[in-house]
Amino acid sequence: KKYIEKYNELRDALLEEGVDIELDSAYRSVSRQEELWKEFEEEYWIDYTQKYVAVPWYSEHHTALAIDICIKKDWELIYDNDEMTEEREIFAKVHEKLADYWFILRYLEGKDDMTWYGYEPWHLRYINDPTLAKEIMDKNITYEEYLATVTNFEKNEDAAKYQISIALQKYLKEVYGDKIAYSRFDFTKLYINDEDKSSDSVKKLNLGKNDVAFEVTYQVLPAEGVDVNEITNKGGSLDEQLGWVTNISRVGVLKYNNGSYTITNFKTNF
Ligand code: DAL
Ligand code: ZN
Repeated sequence: KKYIEKYNELRDALLEEGVDIELDSAYRSVSRQEELWKEFEEEYWIDYTQKYVAVPWYSEHHTALAIDICIKKDWELIYDNDEMTEEREIFAKVHEKLADYWFILRYLEGKDDMTWYGYEPWHLRYINDPTLAKEIMDKNITYEEYLATVTNFEKNEDAAKYQISIALQKYLKEVYGDKIAYSRFDFTKLYINDEDKSSDSVKKLNLGKNDVAFEVTYQVLPAEGVDVNEITNKGGSLDEQLGWVTNISRVGVLKYNNGSYTITNFKTNF
């Protein structure tokens, strides 16, 4: 795999500078993510778990594009999140080199509201485009901030997913008010232009040039003290253990109008 090759090059280059990194985690299956979530939940508060662990099905580690590193210092392995965050000098050296090996830092400090996660100096994302990796790292921006600037969805499905996520969150906010604390979206299908003949019902939507029809499965975490039935009744089921309302399946259309996006036709099928 290309990203492992690049990771090895990164590790060797850093070793020459006296920085010793090791691979802690790369591809993770959904069940591995479930285990990880439970491990964190048993050891820490739920807030801490949410800050550092994606709910199963929603981790970048499922894509095999993300890796977590840990570091070796004075023959000791440092892999605890808080301890790693304190190793600022070492990680500064790591981050400086990332773009040369086609990686970006995915979860920046102070950008929780954009990435939905806390600062993770160890979580690297492979970008199959060295120029883009360099641009993102030089500007010190999150991947989300980059995606927000992309308007050609045909060339970049991540950008479409990003805009749909933002618009959907706004939509859910309108429907549920403060009943929902968090939401996560998993897009199974995108119909990016009206030339798409794959489905008659999608064709009937008459998608405009910047409109995107989509199929999504999503999860929501009810806000504290909220009766989850008010949410589950609308098509999901409750994960008793995690408290998440899971597996709500919907289709919808992201409509573009004068530079802004809204969600329409959000329902169970086209
Ligand atoms: N630590 C990141 C957010 C994950 O679990 O995917
Ligand atoms: Zn990670």
